[in-house]
Parts: sequence; C-alpha cells; structure tokens
Amino acid sequence: MTPEIRLTQAPVHLRHGSNIGQPVTRRDGILKVTGKAPYAADHHPPNMLFAVLATSNIARGRVTFLDVAAANNHPGVVDVMTPAHKPPLAADPDAKTDPFMFRLDLLQSEQVRYANQPIAVVIAETLEAATEGAALLAPKYEALPPRVGLDAGESFVPATVGVGFPTVVEHGDVETDLAAAAKIIDATYETSAQYHNAMEPHAIVATWDGDRLLIDTPSQGLALARGRVAGLFGIAPESIHIRSPFLGGGFGSKGFMAGPQILGIMAARLVNKPVKLVLRREQMYGPVGHRAPTRQRLRIGADAGGRLTALEHHAKTVSSTFDDFFEPAANASHTLYASPAIRTAHEAVRVDSGTPLFMRAPGEATGSIALESAIDEMAFACGIDPLEFRIRNYADVEPVSGKPFSSKALRECYARGAERFGWKTRPVAPRQMRDDTGFLIGWGMGTATFPALMFQGNARAVVRADGTGVVETGAHDMGQGAWTSLAQIAADGLGLDLESVEFRSGASDLPDAGIAGGSAHTATAGQAIHNAGAAVIAKLADLATGDDRSPLFGAGNAGVIARDSRLFRRDDETRNESYAEVLARAGLAEVEASGTAAADQAAQAEYAMHAHGAVFAEVKVDPDLGQMRVTRMVGAFAAGRIINPKLVRSQLLGGMIWGVSFALHEEALVDHRSGRVMNADLAEYHVPVNADVPSMDVLTVEEHDPHVNALGIKGVGEIGITGSAGAVANAVWHATGIRVRRFPIRIENLVLAV
Ligand code: MOS
Repeated sequence: MTPEIRLTQAPVHLRHGSNIGQPVTRRDGILKVTGKAPYAADHHPPNMLFAVLATSNIARGRVTFLDVAAANNHPGVVDVMTPAHKPPLAADPDAKTDPFMFRLDLLQSEQVRYANQPIAVVIAETLEAATEGAALLAPKYEALPPRVGLDAGESFVPATVGVGFPTVVEHGDVETDLAAAAKIIDATYETSAQYHNAMEPHAIVATWDGDRLLIDTPSQGLALARGRVAGLFGIAPESIHIRSPFLGGGFGSKGFMAGPQILGIMAARLVNKPVKLVLRREQMYGPVGHRAPTRQRLRIGADAGGRLTALEHHAKTVSSTFDDFFEPAANASHTLYASPAIRTAHEAVRVDSGTPLFMRAPGEATGSIALESAIDEMAFACGIDPLEFRIRNYADVEPVSGKPFSSKALRECYARGAERFGWKTRPVAPRQMRDDTGFLIGWGMGTATFPALMFQGNARAVVRADGTGVVETGAHDMGQGAWTSLAQIAADGLGLDLESVEFRSGASDLPDAGIAGGSAHTATAGQAIHNAGAAVIAKLADLATGDDRSPLFGAGNAGVIARDSRLFRRDDETRNESYAEVLARAGLAEVEASGTAAADQAAQAEYAMHAHGAVFAEVKVDPDLGQMRVTRMVGAFAAGRIINPKLVRSQLLGGMIWGVSFALHEEALVDHRSGRVMNADLAEYHVPVNADVPSMDVLTVEEHDPHVNALGIKGVGEIGITGSAGAVANAVWHATGIRVRRFPIRIENLVLAV
C-alpha cells in the first residue's frame, strides 16, 4: 500500500549535494498550517461510529453496577462494551512476556486499579450520543481506600529500573569517602508526578475487513504497535496496516499501544463497523502513562580543594499495583561528575495509579534536577562559583563505566554558554542582584547530558531511470521534524537533491525504523536510510565501473562518488555519468537496495556515548509576592552532527521550556481520599506559555564524534530538559537565598521567606 503523504512538492532552500546541515524549513509545515496534515482523528471512513470511554471515578475497588440498559436505550447508542459483553481476545491483557509489554485494561474484569481506568465503552452514531450514553451508565462501586504518594506503603527494591538497568550501582566506597570529606551536602529533593499532555490526545480510527485491520492512530513505534495488536487479536502482523504520518506530540506516551487504543479496535470488532475513539483530555490522566513522582536523597562529599570525593544518589519512586516501570532517577549521577566513590540506588512503592511510563528524558529529567541542585549547594558550601565548580569536577571518562567520553565538547558548552549569558559577573552569594523595580535577580546553571542511543532500523531506497529517487522507512514524526531531517539524509545518501527524492514514512508496511524514543530516531532511521542509499549507489557504481562503455569503467567502487544525480570518478571528476545513463545502458528502470542500522556494539564497549550541554538561566522574583519569572535562558549543546539546525534548535528550545516547566509549573495533584488527579486539564495542570519564557537562546557546539555511528548523529529530543530544570531552580536560589527542594517551586515556598 502506498503511503498517502508525499512531501516532494514543499518549498525548500538547499545546496546541491549537501542537504545535511542545512536549516531546511519543515517540509510538512504548509500541510500543517493549512489543516491538511491528517491526524488520526481526522479520518472518517463511511459508516463510522463513535466510541466514548466510561472511566472509573474510584482508584481502587470494583465496579458493582453499570446501567447498561439506560445507555443502550439512549437514541443513537448502538452498543455498550463491558466486561460481560466484548469481543474475545487472543491474549491476556495482563500477560507480560517481555519487559516492553505493558499490562492493559481492556475490560478484562470489574476490578478497578486506578482512577480513570476504562470500565465500559459506549458506541453510538454520533459523538454526542456516545458521550450521553457513557454518562447514563452511572456506575456503582465497591471502593477501597486508595494508596497514594511516595509513602503509600511498604517500599521495596525493584529487580531493575528503567529499561533493565541495575537498581544499585556502586563504584568505590561512598561511606568511607564521605566520612573523610571536608564538606558534605546531605539533601532530599522531591519531584512531582507529570502527565505527557501531548496536544493531540490518544485517538484511533479502526476499520476491520474480515481479519484485516486498518488503523489510524498516533504511534512512536509502528512495528511494536503492530506486533502488540497482532498478539492481542490473534492475527498476522502483515494483515494490520497502521497509518501514523503525524503525531501531535508523544513524549513517550505513544511509544506503546495504550489500552484505550486497543479498546477502539475491540469496539470496531464488536459492532463490525469502523469506530473512532478519542480520549478527552482528562481521560489521559490514567491509562496512557505518566512520569512518576520521586524523592531523591543526595549525599555528596568534597575535599578542601572543591573536588568531589563521594556521591550517593538514592531515589524512591512509585509504580502501579499491577505492572512495573521504575523511573531510573539516580542513574543521572553515573555519567557526569567525577568522584572516586559513587553509589546509586532505587526503591519503590506501589500505588493505585495507572502504570508510570517513559516520559521525555525518563530518569535523566527527574535525576538531573536533584543532582544539579545538590552540586549547586556543594559549590556554594565550598565558596566556589557553580560554573567553576562544575568545570573542576567534570569527568574525562564516564565516572561509573570508566570509558572515555566527549568531555571536551562539554567544556566548550560551558565556555560558550557562559560567555553568551554573561555569567562571569555573577556574584557567588545569593540575593545580591536586583533590577530597577526592586525585583530580586538570580542566575543559575545546570549541566545537560543524555545518552546517544541507537536502536535497530531498516530502510529501502530506489533510484529510477528518470533521475528521481524514493526512500522508505516507517519513521515517526511527533512534531520533531522527521519528515524533513530524514529526507535530507535520504537525498544526500542517494546523491540527489531534496526535490527529486520522494520520502515515504509514517506507515507500518514500510521498513521498520525502530521506535521514536530515547532521542535515537534520527540516528537509527537516518543511518538506515543512509546505508540504503549507499547500497543503491554501490549497485549503480558496479554497473558503471564494470562496463567498458562507461567513462567510469575500471574506477572501482571506492573510486566513485555520487552527487547531483551523477557518478564521478573520485580522482578525475571530468569522468562522470548520470544515473539515467547508467540505468539506460543496463536496460534497467530502477535500482533498489535496503539498509539497516544498529548500535555498534564494539564501539559502545569502548566509549561512553552522550550528548552534552550547559544551560544558564536568569530569574526575577518579586520580593513582596514571591512570584517568579524566568527572564532569559541560554543553552549550549554538543550533540554530534547536526542534520538540520533549525529543527534541532526547535527541539532544544522545547526541551529547555520543559525544564522551566519542571522547575516551576508542572505537577499532577492527587487527592489522597479519592486517588484522583485533581487538576486533570490544561487549565489547572500548569505548563509554561510564551510569557513564562520571554528570551531563549540556543547554541550548538560543533562536534564530530566518529564512534556513535557513521553519520556522527546524537539525539536532541530529550537533552534540553536535563540541565534546564536545575538551572532554573538554582537561579531561584541565587535570587532569593532560599533553597527549595520540592519541585515545582511554588510561590508559597518563597513568599513568607523573601
Ligand atoms: Mo521518549 S520518553 O524516549 O518518547
């Protein structure tokens, strides 16, 4: 099936043969601003019905009654799916045969394990009828007291945290070194539960045709999604076609099929008609994952010269009562500051909430705000400027693994960011600066770091006799710009200009591009695309150099370069020929090849691979009201080869704004009596608006890392949050002299004290 989205027509500005590195404007931008980019919920196949979830008001207990008759009798209602009336599944939604198979609530029982858990699905001819039908269900419950928060129950040590990381890591002897330290910081920080709140809620339009299934739904992992659906419905993956050309944000919440998406497919099965199911905003606070709250204790020792001697980072977090995901917050201390002794450890409690999941920089975001705050506290205790303290303590090798990493790039981020910000006039003591209206001014900073990961990815490339090309990979564009940056790599890989390459993506029948997560998508899909292109060029070169009628005869593959739709002999560019000529002589309409990419295990064994950065923030605090404003931020980042500086800047800006959000805004407040999130909407779940971040400056530091992958790509999707949250928190301290260790920092933390 040919994907529906074609982006060869969009205007671009480019230099021939060097698409990579150009600030190409989003090729899908015009489609988006004119409303022509199809999102999942925009689909409306003939005879489509609307499904609306009924979700639980309680967080723990059992549904004892649903007024199914009332809902069924409502005009327009077609059917009501309940635990007693639903299509059969081929697999238990509570089965977990691999760590990435998260347990789903698919009406398998009357049991309620979190607030907002789906308890029924009403299917109707209109959205209104389905919504009214769902309200008529008027559920009755047998409720038990919910277990809420970090002290909900007995804590335990999980078997692993994050994606199979060890729970405890020890390097050296922390206790001995702490006992001998000249200065000690022992502080506990708390971070709040956060919800992804992608602008586009989870949505699905499901159409069955016998045992074939077409679904329109946003996905950060098409192959994983297809496999999950195949397993649950007992059908072949090849008979499932998922279209996901655009996502209105994902941030990790669309990495795996969530329960409500599967319920949409079940509803379509039940009524044997296409069904659309879209979550309401408040329904996203439960069944689609979130960032777990944490409580982190840091104990840090330093010697008289301001060098770290011991670093212990202990993180407590929560998971649900029925599944395992543990925010690996303490691991942030593995990769940055050198210390002879480092110990990280995790513990968890089970609460009556939906299962927490990956959320933009999972572990790194939560861990780094605590680590960067504690480092700041130690710098002040030592009487050293926090930038100087960080420079003194950055590591030349990754502290825990001992592998070399790109600390040189980090040093440059420190230097260039500080210079752009004007850091050198910063007084070491807090509460020293005011503006002309009397507002307190503070400057803070944080170090940013995020691993340079790669997954397994595949792509296919074609060059045609007319000089055009096609590149295909089932990549995911959450808004980060994959349609553009991956097409730039595709064009360069084929030696064509951007206009001549049709880039097909965003559908499950294309080669698996790997998950768009872990900031690894450009590296993974991009390297696969590059390799597919290189394989096509190698075939063309074989055709030319082996043919005595070609001006390239005898040049050998290594001696040929591809550019401007032509092959050139490397040592004599006057000897060249167009792809069209090569193909015509060979009697071929096109040449096709595949490419794959994966992390280089040998290189990973030898080197630690991370992107780095340094973020500087200025805040102003009203001394009478405690009101805080971030007035300016500068972030300098080194993230390997930059494919598209415009898109990279946008990703880093987004991450930095999330850092502001983390430090000052975002918090899901859970009612301890009901177990419900009380601010489950974008009015009361605060996120920054333009007025909250008036001036943001992003610098990228050139970095050539030959080890990460052949293209030298590191990710930029998540790193922006990591130093930024700490920078803002540290700036608030520097303005006020008040160290707030619970995030987000609130006015009431400051108002009585300033
Ligand atoms: Mo992400 S949390 O790697 O989408």
